[in-house]
Amino acid sequence: MNIIIANHQAAFDEIAANEFSQEIQRKKDSVVAFATGNTPLGLYRKLVEMYKSGVLDFSSIQALNLDEFSGIDKNHKGSFYSFLKKHLYNQVNVKEENIHPLYYKGGVKEEICKAYEATIKKYGGIDIAILGIGSNGHIAYNEPGTSFDSRTHITALTRDTIEANKKFFTGFDEMPQGGITMGIKTIMKARKVILLANGENKAEIIYRALCGGITTDVPASVLQLHPNISIILDKESAKHFQRIA
Ligand code: PGA
Repeated sequence: MNIIIANHQAAFDEIAANEFSQEIQRKKDSVVAFATGNTPLGLYRKLVEMYKSGVLDFSSIQALNLDEFSGIDKNHKGSFYSFLKKHLYNQVNVKEENIHPLYYKGGVKEEICKAYEATIKKYGGIDIAILGIGSNGHIAYNEPGTSFDSRTHITALTRDTIEANKKFFTGFDEMPQGGITMGIKTIMKARKVILLANGENKAEIIYRALCGGITTDVPASVLQLHPNISIILDKESAKHFQRIA
């Protein structure tokens, strides 16, 4: 595990952007699984800047999303697809036909999940997965208890996750209670993982995930087994690492 602790937010974003850009400069047609949430926002701003200054080219990448709420239109203003369009896709030269949103609004669940796995396979597997971590240890929407063998699936969201995401919706009633997510096995097959965590509210869980036992109670703990992972933390989220320094 390569753990990098950034001194401040700008450094955090820059380190993450450099990790990412090294990969797509090396393999221009990289298949990328993008995270949503507050954590990668600065990274995406930096990637847009790098694109605008001619340093990065997204024209050959395949863009996937790690997860999504289930039961809403993909263009709903609260969807992760809309988030990625707003903060990244619309501002760089990723090709429309290379964007593969993961969503479930109806139909046979198993078929939709299998079709997403088939899309990943068709492009040769995921090269880079950019991950955040939920305060309950989830990665994508693999909530505590999810099997490490899971592939893309529909899932119920935990109370914590619903609380953390209700800001995207106008009221609790509108907030989806379920999600569709790449599975843990799907993510673990990515050739490179970049895990991002910032803020004091992630300190306890990131410490448990990286230094505790590997357990489905903390889905992110499986990442201890990933052969090619960079973990980027800020000082606040890394504060318990002084215990082992
Ligand atoms: P956050 O979400 O970046 O908004 O903290 C992370 C996650 O739930 O995976």
